[in-house]
Amino acid sequence: MRRKLAAGNWKMNGTSAALGELAALQEAHPDPAVDLLICPPATLLSAAVQEAHNGPLMIGGQDCHEKTDGAHTGDISAEMLRDVGARAVILGHSERRAGYHETSEDVRAKARTAHAAGLMTVICLGESLIQREATNTLDIIGAQLSLSVPDTSTGENLVVAYEPIWAIGSGQTPTPDQIGEVHDFMRTRLERRFGAGVGRSVRLLYGGSVKPENAAEIFAVSNVDGALVGGASLKAADFAPIIRALENA
Ligand code: 13P
Repeated sequence: MRRKLAAGNWKMNGTSAALGELAALQEAHPDPAVDLLICPPATLLSAAVQEAHNGPLMIGGQDCHEKTDGAHTGDISAEMLRDVGARAVILGHSERRAGYHETSEDVRAKARTAHAAGLMTVICLGESLIQREATNTLDIIGAQLSLSVPDTSTGENLVVAYEPIWAIGSGQTPTPDQIGEVHDFMRTRLERRFGAGVGRSVRLLYGGSVKPENAAEIFAVSNVDGALVGGASLKAADFAPIIRALENA
């Protein structure tokens, strides 16, 4: 059975004052029945790892470079993330694909390096509204999935997050049927590529305007193994009920 995963992506939000939210989150869920991951900005990684005290809360990065080291001003390597105590990294978020022209090939190269460094990768995929309206969603997701996911993937080091671009930060979410269609499709594709054993153990997250109010409905969808949460992960008071909904799913 896949262990469920509640992941928070803080994006470019949070200074040291936000560490109190991690303390509050751990207080609300001292012994969670699901895996917990928070990906704060890089400036908070070290302090966040300390705040997590080797407990069940995992800390992760939001990106890493495809190279192991070198002259790449402003970038962070997978090894550096591991060194600071991060256990995972988000890769290929649509905000990076759009803002930094990251391609699926770039994402695959980064994921390979992250796997070699011992990190779990949360690889993000998602269609735009124009692509959905043109009924191209499964073609887009299929191409992103096969190109972004490297052959180094296993059931332990690969998590895939389906994040429709139009649902991110918009308050709009796909219907449960729409989410289920994409998640079932991703599961079939992963089983075909990696075999049933690995394909069935990769966790598939949904992301895009997940809130305490809609979490239970989303977590009831087949092949949804958790969520990648943006805005509602910033405050423990919002994220804690989402975690509770996942524990009860
Ligand atoms: P929101 O939950 O704020 O819509 O963001 C989703 C997201 O992009 C997580 O990576």
